[in-house]
Amino acid sequence: MKTTTEKFGATPHQPSLWTRADALKVRADDPTTTQPLVSADFPVLNNDVFIWDTMPLRDLDGNVTSVDGWSVIFTLTADRHPNDPQYLDEDGNYDILRDWNDRHGRAKMYYWFSRTGKNWEFGGRVMAEGVSPTAREWAGTPILLNDRGEVDLYYTAVTPGATIVKVRGRVVTTEHGVSMVGFEKVKPLFEADGNMYQTEAQNAFWGFRDPWPFRDPKDGKLYMLFEGNVAGERGSHKVGEAEIGDVPPGYEDVGNSRFQTACVGIAVARDADGDDWEMLPPLLTAVGVNDQTERPHFVFQDGKYYLFTISHTFTYADGVTGPDGVYGFVADSLFGPYVPLNGSGLVLGNPSSQPFQTYSHYVMPNGLVTSFIDSVPTDETGTQIRVGGTEAPTVGMKIKGQQTFVVAEYDYGYIPPMLDVTLK
Ligand code: FRU
Repeated sequence: MKTTTEKFGATPHQPSLWTRADALKVRADDPTTTQPLVSADFPVLNNDVFIWDTMPLRDLDGNVTSVDGWSVIFTLTADRHPNDPQYLDEDGNYDILRDWNDRHGRAKMYYWFSRTGKNWEFGGRVMAEGVSPTAREWAGTPILLNDRGEVDLYYTAVTPGATIVKVRGRVVTTEHGVSMVGFEKVKPLFEADGNMYQTEAQNAFWGFRDPWPFRDPKDGKLYMLFEGNVAGERGSHKVGEAEIGDVPPGYEDVGNSRFQTACVGIAVARDADGDDWEMLPPLLTAVGVNDQTERPHFVFQDGKYYLFTISHTFTYADGVTGPDGVYGFVADSLFGPYVPLNGSGLVLGNPSSQPFQTYSHYVMPNGLVTSFIDSVPTDETGTQIRVGGTEAPTVGMKIKGQQTFVVAEYDYGYIPPMLDVTLK
């Protein structure tokens, strides 16, 4: 197996590298890049379901969009099972943590609406049972296409396999609420190719998911970001000088970090509708650094490309670490080179006293960052926790050049629209 630079040598662009040296700069608990503590007495959006990844309705330029004054979000959602014998412990009490940890296997896409950009009202499932071709409906992006209310929902159809798909439907509003209609035909777009992006056959722990389509503000073409791993058999990747970066003496040992091979993938549409896609080499790789760069997305600001992606402590490689949260990189052009924000890449991490308080951060072009509550400790030692499965307080952030700063905190699940579309 080759190093990242050798592997993508002859391709149109070189992936930018998030290096081990960059990651060594990560500082947990820096107040400018740490999410304020989430209190254990948080409100729960809905006691019948867990929600996690939150996907605001937006246009192709990234603007969070309401329709006829209604804000709309999509969420990965799973039923809670407080009375299911399967989730009762020996004493007959509901083992909510086990139920929560099992949620990925039954994730479905739901939608919610609101007049105020918070206090979301339950909409329901986007697709009827049986419409999506696989067991799991994993993260993606709902795009409002026009003032007829047409919506392209890009998402990941998982188990068996992992396929980036889309389904077209329509958002309909009344005075009383919002409904999603016609999401009936799912179109498979592409899967990992084994050449640029790792396949399940190459690594049972591969990641290939979380499509985020967008129109490039500079060339006007339709592209899509997604999460991937760099192709190659598990264990065969090389962590060479480029992946290590400029480290101090004594930091050359890479341990088993060849097993961590995350990348941010990109594809370009061959047609205006986004039905036909060509995968391109990754924009960013993290070989030797981290195994997951999830839900990649952009903020286009000041003529720059701000690339954000979420990652975990547990997916870091030997010898490097950082909090669960959102990481970011900036470039002057779409294909890079990308430089880690704040030197390290860390943009908004959990405080070390509450390492799992939030996850799946989504940075919006207005600087607001939404996420969900995972679990919050309820005692000093952190052994007792309260499971979330609901919206976290929104954080306000300023993006300035190559730095970011936490500047505000808002209400739970506050996702205000940036523009409103009146439907015809
Ligand atoms: C992030 C994530 C996504 C995936 C989903 C699965 O929280 O891991 O990458 O689509 O959750 O539940």
